[in-house]
Amino acid sequence: MNFANELINWYQKNKRSLPWRNTKKPYKIWLSEIILQQTRVDQGKSYYLKFEKEFPTVSSLAKADEQKVLNMWQGLGYYSRARNLKKAADQVISDFNGVFPTDYKELLKLKGVGKYTAAAVASFSKNERVPVVDGNVYRVISRYLNIDEPINTPKSYKIFSEAALELMENCRPDEFNQAIMEFGALHCTPTNPKCNECPLSYNCTALALNIVKDLPVKKKKSKVKERFFNFIITNNASGFAIEKRNQKGIWQNLYQFPMIETSNHKHEFSELKKLIETDDRFENHKVRQVTQIGSDRKHLLSHQRIWARFYEVEFDEETNNQKKLVRTKSLEHYPIPRLIERFVEEEAPHYLK
Ligand code: ADE
Ligand code: SF4
Repeated sequence: MNFANELINWYQKNKRSLPWRNTKKPYKIWLSEIILQQTRVDQGKSYYLKFEKEFPTVSSLAKADEQKVLNMWQGLGYYSRARNLKKAADQVISDFNGVFPTDYKELLKLKGVGKYTAAAVASFSKNERVPVVDGNVYRVISRYLNIDEPINTPKSYKIFSEAALELMENCRPDEFNQAIMEFGALHCTPTNPKCNECPLSYNCTALALNIVKDLPVKKKKSKVKERFFNFIITNNASGFAIEKRNQKGIWQNLYQFPMIETSNHKHEFSELKKLIETDDRFENHKVRQVTQIGSDRKHLLSHQRIWARFYEVEFDEETNNQKKLVRTKSLEHYPIPRLIERFVEEEAPHYLK
């Protein structure tokens, strides 16, 4: 027997009896799948039954108050799921004539419905041939076929959904999709998969190579680096200084107020003053006064979290190291990072004029 037949055979003998498995109604399948996202089946079951009873149809859900839906959701967490549940029900009424869609592409238009949920509803309700790819599916397929592509990268979804599509070629999509998820949840589990009583062991590549425990591969998320920036605004009658970022890394070739990076933001004004006075961009001029403008700002980049402070600094005499700084009266014609643009728009628009 091939993969799909063995798998479905296993499923028919071992499947749990779950309330959403007794229906072909797309509304109910969708309801169950939204509840089961990030929720264990044990916990999800009672919520599903409660929602199904209170809102037996999509129009009853659309008629409900959002507050009522949120109250019923209490305990499940991730309340955006509950808000999207209600919004999607409204969409079905307004955009689909009240008829719950069953087509994969149509389902993707609903709020809160991604590729996984769309595939689940389309296949379970109408047998559309689209594979579900969830954590269980990644695990089973990566082991069975020895795919060592990390499962949490942008291209992994395509690789695994194509593999799944091939494996499901000659069987019923609804059965295959339910079966592979159930098999991952109960048999080919993350730790201690039951390889020695596995109907797929004969052809399982990872088992043959003795690398079951190494699959699936996950790419380590690179740590987010925290950085602390202090921008120095040297405003006076002749304008203020800016500098061009030449270093490799973020914001290359953009302009900014002269910046001093520190390892945290715990310093006092007096310490900052010292840093400025010993910085050759400011030619060792004495600082008369330092004032923070606005509050600390957080800016997220893909691998960095930037904390920014903006200070207006008055010097005893005008300073301007022309080799390192440009003096200007406006940022208007300079390309600047979004962080600085936001600061100026909100706290100091006169620097843009
Ligand atoms: N988890 C998510 N969807 C599921 C389903 N249809 N059956 C069992 N567990 C699930
Ligand atoms: Fe999973 Fe082990 Fe079965 Fe392979 S043999 S499919 S790793 S349970």
